[in-house]
Amino acid sequence: MENRIVTPKDPSIDLIRILSEGTYTSFPQALKEFISNSHDAFATEVALRFEDDFATLSIRDNGEGMSADDFTNVFASIARTGQKTPPTPEAERLKRERIGRFGIGALAVVGTAEKFTIRSVKKGSGKGFLASIDLKDLRTHYEKGEDLDKVWRFALSEWQDEKNSTHFTEVTVDGIRNDIRQILQRSGKSLTDPFQSTSELSGVEELRWQLGIICPVEYVHEYPIPSKYVKAEEDRILTDVSKRLEKNQFEVTLNGLPVKNPTYLPGYDPDKLKGAEAKLLLRRGLGYDVKYLESTADSKVTYKGYLCVQAYQIFPQELRGILIRLRGVAIGWHRALNLGASAATMLTSMSGEVWVGGLDEALQFDRESFREDHPLFVWLRDRIQEAVNAEAVKFRERSAKRMAMVRRGQKKGTGKSGKPKREKKSADPRYSHAYLQPEILEKMPEYITRLIPQVNGAYEREWYEAAAMVLRRIMETLIIELYTRRGWTQDVQDPTSNEFLMLKALIDQLNGDARLRVQRRTIDGLNRVKELGDTAAHDFRVRIRKSDLDRIQSVARLACERLVFTIGESAPTP
Ligand SMILES: Nc1ncnc2c1ncn2[C@@H]1O[C@H](COP(=O)(O)OP(=O)(O)O)[C@@H](O)[C@H]1O
Ligand SMILES: [Mg+2]
Repeated sequence: MENRIVTPKDPSIDLIRILSEGTYTSFPQALKEFISNSHDAFATEVALRFEDDFATLSIRDNGEGMSADDFTNVFASIARTGQKTPPTPEAERLKRERIGRFGIGALAVVGTAEKFTIRSVKKGSGKGFLASIDLKDLRTHYEKGEDLDKVWRFALSEWQDEKNSTHFTEVTVDGIRNDIRQILQRSGKSLTDPFQSTSELSGVEELRWQLGIICPVEYVHEYPIPSKYVKAEEDRILTDVSKRLEKNQFEVTLNGLPVKNPTYLPGYDPDKLKGAEAKLLLRRGLGYDVKYLESTADSKVTYKGYLCVQAYQIFPQELRGILIRLRGVAIGWHRALNLGASAATMLTSMSGEVWVGGLDEALQFDRESFREDHPLFVWLRDRIQEAVNAEAVKFRERSAKRMAMVRRGQKKGTGKSGKPKREKKSADPRYSHAYLQPEILEKMPEYITRLIPQVNGAYEREWYEAAAMVLRRIMETLIIELYTRRGWTQDVQDPTSNEFLMLKALIDQLNGDARLRVQRRTIDGLNRVKELGDTAAHDFRVRIRKSDLDRIQSVARLACERLVFTIGESAPTP
């Protein structure tokens, strides 16, 4: 055996990818590098401005600036190792925690545009510089195999005659890539309109929303939940975070409009806020609640954060999940973090932010995600999971409490309008007609009739998955009943196990059965019930809504009635 050491021809394969596509999965995530740098330079204002129909973006801050030497030796130098900066009086005053650690400077936008320019005047120096690089040229040469140090070159000019009080940094990118421009040019709603997903917003408004999530800026409202429910002591984590952000005085604007953290919970689909339950949904402890997470002195990772869990799905949907922030800056977006399993249905009703410290070693190079198998990340995720599990219990308790209140309100006969409630919405599911009329099945055996209040009760309580599953079961039992009464039980059983067939096979049997000649539309109705029931039972990614059940209500009823009729035709009179 021969041992040797090999030197790969081009070890920097990743750099090629970075140079041609950029390190970031999205433009806003790339912008966060610059905004973070402005933050670290103690800027109190950062203005992002698009020009020339989104071909050009400038990011200007009023921070302490940098010298041409700082730029050459630090910002523009790719292979430098992490540097430490001594605390300055400015740092003391703003109590800012430095975001940058192993900056990749201009590399953040290399893949997104054709030209990068930076201008800066360092505080107290009276001197400024301008440096630029042709990114398009850089990419072409680099792809042809030229060494990085031959192409990573900046044109630099300096001037001396600045006022001593002037200091700023301005980064400009020109020739923004077409696909990014197209997104930015998209027309759509503005942040003041109601929207269910940020994809309904115009491109710039979506970016403004996204930057508000990413950047360490104040909330749009005082807190991410209505301040009338905030108690200083109980909600210390939220009040602390909000106060810190305020003290930070970090103001970001996009085309002159403020960039703020848009989180404001609870956030329901407006349709949800119409019925008898509506007011209860907005009450803390009844419709939603906030749970806090905090590390202890012996924790491996320091963290604090909140989870807000509300009765129904969160809108805009981009807020669903948990956002992890490192030194105030979002790492990626709100995510489900694989918290599923125990709380699958609750996940879409949950939004939270967790501020962590000491997790740098688990951070990926792109600063958009963590290494998910890193022990520290795994450990943190487990802590979040514990909190989520505890909340899942409360989530159910709140729902029961609300339903009880709604029912009590209806018994008293006072709806929101003061009009007596309709009979149909009766509180006792045994007599409920909410979805399927009990009369239809009254001649059927108990094992079928007892399913009716289950469908209706579940529907009334808005347990739509349960309702869809029981509805599927009713169809199954009706078909089995039909065959059993005719003495054809074997036709609907598995020959080896004698178990009854599943609904799909039952429908197939019924459909091909020349003795019965069941109508096509009955088969179609059965198939639609089956489809929804299957989804409810097996597809945890979707949540069955009222509208899904409503859509098949009449075909389900008709299918039931026809089956009952067919059963009756053959049945010995009771
Ligand atoms: N907007 C800015 N204002 C002042 N200095 C800046 C600015 N952007 C970058 N710098 C300087 O360039 C350095 C390198 O930035 P960067 O590559 O992002 O690394 P990091 O942020 O991790 O330090 C910063 O530490 C800072 O000294
Ligand atoms: Mg940086």
